[in-house]
Amino acid sequence: MVIPAHIAIIMDGNGRWAEEKGLPRREGHKAGVKALKRVTEKAGELGVSCLTVYAFSTENWKRPGAEVNFLMKLFKQTLLEQARDLFENNVRVKVIGRREGLSKGILQSISEVEGLTADNQGLELNIAFNYGGRLEILDMIRKIITEIDRGLNPDQLKVEDLNKYLYNPSYPEVELLIRTGGEKRLSNFLLWQSAYAEFYFIDKYWPDFTGDDLLEAIRVFQIRDRKFGGLNKAGGK
Ligand code: IPE
Ligand code: IPE
Ligand code: MG
Repeated sequence: MVIPAHIAIIMDGNGRWAEEKGLPRREGHKAGVKALKRVTEKAGELGVSCLTVYAFSTENWKRPGAEVNFLMKLFKQTLLEQARDLFENNVRVKVIGRREGLSKGILQSISEVEGLTADNQGLELNIAFNYGGRLEILDMIRKIITEIDRGLNPDQLKVEDLNKYLYNPSYPEVELLIRTGGEKRLSNFLLWQSAYAEFYFIDKYWPDFTGDDLLEAIRVFQIRDRKFGGLNKAGGK
C-alpha cells in the first residue's frame, strides 16, 4: 500500500458545523481541534511522513475581530496543551506562515512546541498559521534577491533549488490534498507545493472528519493514475 509522503488538509467547515447545531462558531473551532488530534494520530500510525494543515490563512484576518481573537487564543492554548502529547507521539511540529502580525505570546508558544519536538523522528506536522501561498512565494523571491545581491547567478537557478527558500525547506511535494466542508478551491494554500497534488474533496465538515475518512482519501489516492504529463503511471513514456 503506497502511503502519500505528504498530505495537506484544508480543514474547512467548522463554522457551518456549529451553526447547523445552533451553536456559536467557536464551538466548531474547538471541535476542529479534536478532529486534528484524531487525524494526526491516524497519520502517524499509517506512516505518513509529512502532514500540513491549514489552520489560519492570511485572508482570515478579514473575519470579525471576536472570531479572529478567539482563533488566536485557541491556537496558542492548543499548542501549549498538546505539546507533551505531540512530543510523546514522536511528532515534529513546525508552524509555517508569516511570523509578523502574531502576538508575542503566540510566538513564544510556537518556539516552545517547535523546540520541544525538534528532534522527534516520527510524523512531521506543519501547521499553516497566518499562512498564504502567494506570500510564501513573495518571501521566497525576496530571499532569492538577497542571495543574488550576494553573488548568486540567476542563470544557474533550477526549480528544485527553490524549495530551500520555502517556509519549510524539508517538506516533500504535496501528493494528496484534502479539503473538507464541500468547497472546491485552494484558498491560497501551498500553491507552489501542490503543482502535481491529487485533490480529494469531501462534503463532511472538518469536526466530523475521522481517521477512517483519512484512510478512505488515501485509498482513493492509491487508485488514481498519476501521469505527471507523461502517458503512463509515474510519468513514464
Ligand atoms: C475553517 O472553518 C477554519 C478556519 C478558517 C479558521 P471555517 O471557519 O471556515 O468554517 P466555515 O467554512 O465558515 O463553515
Ligand atoms: C481556508 O478556509 C482556510 C482555512 C481552512 C484555515 P476559508 O473558509 O478561509 O476559505 P474560503 O474563504 O472559503 O475560500
Ligand atoms: Mg470556511
